[in-house]
Amino acid sequence: MSIRMTARTIDGKAIAAELRESIKREVEELRKLTGKVPGLATVLVGDDPASHVYVKMKNRACEQLGIYSRKVELPATATEEELLALIEKLNSDDAINGILVQFPPPKHVNKEAVIRAVAPEKDVDGFHPKNVGELFLGNEKVLVACTPLGVIKLLEHENIDVAGKEVVIINRSNIVGKPLVALMINRSATVTVCHSKTRDMKEHARRADILVSAAGREGFITADHVKEGATVIDVATVRREDGSLTGDVLFDEVSMKAGAITPSPGGVGPMTIACLMQNTLLAFKMQNGVGDFSARR
Ligand code: GUN
Repeated sequence: MSIRMTARTIDGKAIAAELRESIKREVEELRKLTGKVPGLATVLVGDDPASHVYVKMKNRACEQLGIYSRKVELPATATEEELLALIEKLNSDDAINGILVQFPPPKHVNKEAVIRAVAPEKDVDGFHPKNVGELFLGNEKVLVACTPLGVIKLLEHENIDVAGKEVVIINRSNIVGKPLVALMINRSATVTVCHSKTRDMKEHARRADILVSAAGREGFITADHVKEGATVIDVATVRREDGSLTGDVLFDEVSMKAGAITPSPGGVGPMTIACLMQNTLLAFKMQNGVGDFSARR
């Protein structure tokens, strides 16, 4: 008789809350030491409702941790030049250690130009070519993209070692898939990246010891995509028509087969915001030459 165990749920919400607590303590210590606190500027262009929700969550997280946050909003009609001029101003503003331009910007704004305009040392999104390049060269003492960093932190928290493991990532974006490839190969994983042109995605997924899915499609990952005992990380947040949230993974059936699984919501999402807070703190420490900024990873 075989007894099938259900997967352990990786509680991203609780793990993120722990991380936020430790950031809060460190912010307070640094405030006593330097008389200053880290500062984050969020820049939102236009009126995409989802972007407004995300930026609000980021500002609220700052407030809870004693991090100064400045919300800058530009109308959808703002020109690329206006946005770049604003970024330039924030680059030389001493109260601001981190700059986050919420993506996607309106269509008439060149994303590449925005990413390159943010000073690498204030690039708390980890999108600047300098930071991405350093990461791919194996130097992780730079600002690293928050969502992939959150995935790594969840795995570390659960003592899931990636060295030598088959890691399959369903996403090739600059925000998630590519930086996660770098973090994984820096840790000696064997990495496969799947995307919309991949043939036989299921065959790849079924080989994974660690399956990371960020397709943004409800029901994309079924039990049939998952190897017995695998770790399944659901990066997607999908909003259903009724307003409720879910991820890529059919949680109930996959958790009957996986070894460990993140829910969505309540998995990677809270870690992304906690990592943004940590990046803002790290940027502050690097800019002020204080604290131990190698302790992060
Ligand atoms: N839009 C979706 N994800 C992100 C993110 O991680 N950072 C920013 N700036 N915009 C996003």
